[in-house]
Amino acid sequence: DQSLKALAARHNLYIGTAVDLNAYADAGDPQYKTMVNQQFNTVTAENAMKWESLEPTRGVYNWGPADAFVNEAIRNRQLVRGHVLTWHSQLPGWLSAGIDDGSIGRDEARALLRQHITTVVSHFRGKIWQWDVVNEAVSDPWETPSAIHLGGNTGSFKQKWADTLGPDYVADAFRWARAADPKALLFYNDYNLEAFGDGGPGDKTQFVYDMVKRLRAQGVPIDGVGSQGHLGTRYGNYDVFQASEALERFTDLGLAVAFTEVDVRSLMKNADDPTVDANSADEASRDQAAAYNHWVLLQACLMNRHCLSFTVWGFTDKYSWIPNWFKNPPEGAGCLWDANYQPKKSLRTVQGTLLAS
Ligand code: G3I
Repeated sequence: DQSLKALAARHNLYIGTAVDLNAYADAGDPQYKTMVNQQFNTVTAENAMKWESLEPTRGVYNWGPADAFVNEAIRNRQLVRGHVLTWHSQLPGWLSAGIDDGSIGRDEARALLRQHITTVVSHFRGKIWQWDVVNEAVSDPWETPSAIHLGGNTGSFKQKWADTLGPDYVADAFRWARAADPKALLFYNDYNLEAFGDGGPGDKTQFVYDMVKRLRAQGVPIDGVGSQGHLGTRYGNYDVFQASEALERFTDLGLAVAFTEVDVRSLMKNADDPTVDANSADEASRDQAAAYNHWVLLQACLMNRHCLSFTVWGFTDKYSWIPNWFKNPPEGAGCLWDANYQPKKSLRTVQGTLLAS
């Protein structure tokens, strides 16, 4: 059996993917579903467990799609990463609008967040392996002129929860989640945590490190740090020592780690834009660089026995979020399989790395 999950099992590693429920549905793309179940032993709903999906109308939870997904994963003996409880993005319209126009004030917002976490975690109690309890709460270095901090600079989107509730909401969220399901592993999840301060994106890693260290010291029930692993062939390009050092610093705190949303995007050819560098759009070197970045993260994970899982954010370019998000200049080709489900160099590299040792 050369499936990714069989190869990963040799290392006691779980290998996963985000799942697009439209493609996965019975009326969707049969090949997609077959591959999710053949290749992966942990799954994450790409959108279906976000607040806007679960509670589109205030007080009315729509569990159908998420329940079907979780129950099917359990039937297929896949462990579920629950994504996501507390995030500034993909909140239901009624909630964002209420916070923005002040009709939902601090006390009510806090009560709503508490109720949401309690309701959702209780609903899925016993079925979720790892919960992303708080996602992307920390700003990037370029979002503020002076310092990286919780919630970003004033007016930034990430400020929503920190501004409304004060920074203690992070600790509260973990406590509420633990109370609702004592057995689920509780994660802080973010991007740009692949390496420590490099004067660039990795500077956020230090802030998150200090934050989770403080949370642990205060007895807040946090079990792990999810490093998303959204890389690009034009940035990041960390080496394996940088990547493993980052994991090690977190695991030295007694935390587990996981790569939770790995993909490595590239600049795509854009005939309309002469500023696009033809070299970086060259397919062979693009695939090579993407494979290298996948290898660095996987290798770092394999080198750390507290690295529980390696999840890609979609496995085929056919349904990847990347081209929808990065349009100017166009980026894509971030996944292990191409849009026709053909293996790419990244996949061969992941398979080879899992086969070795
Ligand atoms: O469901 C609507 C559909 O009804 C509508 O026709 C369509 C038209 O645009 O939009 C659909 O919603 C889209 C949704 O994905 C479901 O496909 C949203 O526009 C789109 O913004 C949303 O994007 C998701 C993104 O999070 C939003 O924040 C991506 O699929 C999802 O991959 C991405 O995932 C995030 C993680 O949760 C957290 N970390 C970063 C990662 C990548 O951004």
